[in-house]
Amino acid sequence: MLAACKFIRNLEIFKKIMNQPMFETRGRDAVKPRLLIIGVRGQLGYDCAQAFNPDFSVTGLSSAELDLSFTEKIRAAVLHCQPEVIINCAAYTQVDNCENEKEKAELINSVAPAHMAATAKEIGARLVHISTDYVFSGDKPLPKGYSETDKVDPVSVYGRSKLAGETAIINSGCEHIIVRTAWLYGINGHNFLKTMLRLALSEPTTERKIVADQFGCLTWSQSLARQLLKLVAGGSRGLYHGVGEGAASWYEVAEYFLKLMEVEHQLIPCATAEYPTPARRPANSILINRRLKDEDILVMRPWREDLKLFVENYRQALLDEARAAISAT
Ligand SMILES: NC(=O)c1ccc[n+]([C@@H]2O[C@H](COP(=O)([O-])OP(=O)(O)OC[C@H]3O[C@@H](n4cnc5c(N)ncnc54)[C@H](OP(=O)(O)O)[C@@H]3O)[C@@H](O)[C@H]2O)c1
Repeated sequence: MLAACKFIRNLEIFKKIMNQPMFETRGRDAVKPRLLIIGVRGQLGYDCAQAFNPDFSVTGLSSAELDLSFTEKIRAAVLHCQPEVIINCAAYTQVDNCENEKEKAELINSVAPAHMAATAKEIGARLVHISTDYVFSGDKPLPKGYSETDKVDPVSVYGRSKLAGETAIINSGCEHIIVRTAWLYGINGHNFLKTMLRLALSEPTTERKIVADQFGCLTWSQSLARQLLKLVAGGSRGLYHGVGEGAASWYEVAEYFLKLMEVEHQLIPCATAEYPTPARRPANSILINRRLKDEDILVMRPWREDLKLFVENYRQALLDEARAAISAT
């Protein structure tokens, strides 16, 4: 297992991509707390590795090193690393596929976190777990958003499995932080923005319908990683919402992104009814960063500011990745 635990030591990369590091790197001799990131290859896992690296001794596990379907292996992996903090960025995130793979969704999104929580309690580690806006039904009248104290009522298998994960962690009695986020994008991995870019580049004059009656909070995984660092460093506990500030529809997000990318495109707003998907999605999944604001620890920025920064930093990399994907098909 030792060989399987990969040390992430990207301080130089971190310095390059983070505009305003929140913490000074500690002296070389200081003993850093051990952090285990589960799901380090995902969008958020990757950015957490960068954000926490200066202050923590970071170990990251991908699914190749710890497959969460084998829940009996979770305890041994955690015990081996002996972390003070565990961040669970892994999840079965394919919302539509979850509808037909209920058992898998429950295993990865609910049973596996329960095992992490039990082991965290056993060794006195703090578990940071990421949940979702899809724990809400979306029936709240727009433009009101949901805060941490609002009633949950998921309308999809994915949402129910993520809610069950939250509940299992809370019931375990381990020290925890649960952060509900939404509409994530980052430089590493797959997301809606990358799909839009690929489609626009491959067929710039084709008209594409984009859903304009679902509203949520676009969130840059790099900003969320910085927010998680602030929560962990400040000793926070309990349930938080952590999303980019402000709300938008998928159509608004796609339009703004492609304009920033200066890529020709033809988007047409459409209704959810015109674009049926296996999983039902909340029409309103706007989250409010209520506790982060009340406790004066909000790091998240307005979504447009973040997206502008994302494009400024990664425009060429995004274009290269999209063009490579197009020529591979
Ligand atoms: N994406 C969104 O829009 C969104 C919205 C709301 C909430 N969230 C939540 O935010 C968190 C991070 O999301 P993300 O977008 O960063 O996710 P992501 O990019 O889809 O990454 C998820 C990671 O989970 C890992 N994983 C999946 N099945 C696994 C298994 N059987 N064993 C071990 N690892 C497994 C994958 O590992 P490998 O790559 O190594 O296979 C993958 O890297 C998740 O909890 C998600 O539910 C996401």
